[in-house]
Amino acid sequence: MPNDRDTEAAPDDALLTAFSGYITQHLGLHFPRGQWPELVRAAQALEPAGADACMRRLMAAPPTRGQIEQLAHQLTVGETYFFREPAVFDALEHEVLPALIAARRAAGRTLRVWSAGCCTGEELYSVAILLQRLIPDLADWRISLLGTDVNPAFLRKAEQGRYRDWSFRAVPAWLRQRHFGPPQDGLRAIAPALRRGVRFDYLNLAADLFPGPEAGAPTMDLILCRNVLMYFEPASAARALQRLGCALAPDGWLAVGVAEAGHALLAPFEPVRFPAALLYRQRADAPWPEARPAAAGLPCAVPAAVASPVAAAAAEPVPALALRARLSADRGLLDDASLCCAAAIATDKCDPALRYLRALILEEQGRSGEAIGALRDALYLDPDFVLAHFTLGSLCRRNGAAREAQRHFANALELLRGHPPDDVLAHSGGVRAGELADLMRAGAESA
Ligand SMILES: C[S@@+](CC[C@H](N)C(=O)[O-])C[C@H]1O[C@@H](n2cnc3c(N)ncnc32)[C@H](O)[C@@H]1O
Repeated sequence: MPNDRDTEAAPDDALLTAFSGYITQHLGLHFPRGQWPELVRAAQALEPAGADACMRRLMAAPPTRGQIEQLAHQLTVGETYFFREPAVFDALEHEVLPALIAARRAAGRTLRVWSAGCCTGEELYSVAILLQRLIPDLADWRISLLGTDVNPAFLRKAEQGRYRDWSFRAVPAWLRQRHFGPPQDGLRAIAPALRRGVRFDYLNLAADLFPGPEAGAPTMDLILCRNVLMYFEPASAARALQRLGCALAPDGWLAVGVAEAGHALLAPFEPVRFPAALLYRQRADAPWPEARPAAAGLPCAVPAAVASPVAAAAAEPVPALALRARLSADRGLLDDASLCCAAAIATDKCDPALRYLRALILEEQGRSGEAIGALRDALYLDPDFVLAHFTLGSLCRRNGAAREAQRHFANALELLRGHPPDDVLAHSGGVRAGELADLMRAGAESA
């Protein structure tokens, strides 16, 4: 007898085209047709009911932080090791860092380094080891070493700072012995002083607020974003590079991977050639616009350090509350998101977008019945709210209310007919009318 998986529809080209676009939009990653099997495998791993259902469910609404993490867990590449690409570390040790240290010694003894796409932490700890070697009076400095990644499993390993021999494949034995403890259960722990000096945090380079002026913080002196953007779709890589440029100090440096160096997308930075490596410097006439604050339209999640306490929510104006609700929801802080959203609705009872946001938060909290109520409220306030029809249809279908689901899907399709395919739908996080229509037609065929 066939089981459910045997009868599950395989994703067709239209669905896979839409899903790879969705992955690019929300994670930056590029999955051309030849790599679609990886998308199918990832979706299958996430949903026992099958890849097709998983893709449709995910695309029904802007992804939550939890969904992004699950996708990242399936789709990111975790290859890294200490002092990877030694020529880059040679240039850092002998040229770049000594010059930066000399400049910063004369100006407050502060140095900020960011490993963007840090994976399991080897790259950032390698820089920490260099700095320990290069700055004899380290205790008198304020050094910020930040590692960020979108894959929480990698971040957990980075925080633990315990590594197998494979991570040391490019370093001499003395370095391993000097900076790591003896092996225990096949793992060596990084020296506590190095471990204490670094910080790891979640950050999606395709969406979140970047540390630096975007987050109201100072600029970075050195950014390492190596072997990360080579997996990005070019337009997403260009956007990330622009934002990295905004985050970089006027005399700051950018290190990319050996395979990425020389790429045309790096043209806005000034290339500097070292014996066996190519690094980049901020140009004097850097083309970046002023770093815009989050509220001006950058898709972002606010770092924990930037978020303000829930108790202050009621005093904030509605747009700020709505933004905070979205950012907290992105970070998985659902209680905070819920409180901010409720406070916003209490002040502005007639905004359908707030009701929609409330529905997304409720759904994420597993309160489907209330989410359906909030979507009905949104549609009462704006009967033409396409995405609310679509999301309500999806929730009804999942809850077994097939006829109501059908009605909302039909309404959404009817409304979509009034939009050119390239129209970005309101409150959708960037979904275009044509994409949603294709998705719905594909869904109707397989329902
Ligand atoms: C091949 S590793 C590179 C690690 C390290 N930078 C190096 O060169 O050894 C790529 C890393 O990029 C991360 N990554 C991929 N997409 C990302 C995104 N959208 N935001 C943040 N990190 C991302 C992956 O999780 C992975 O840890």
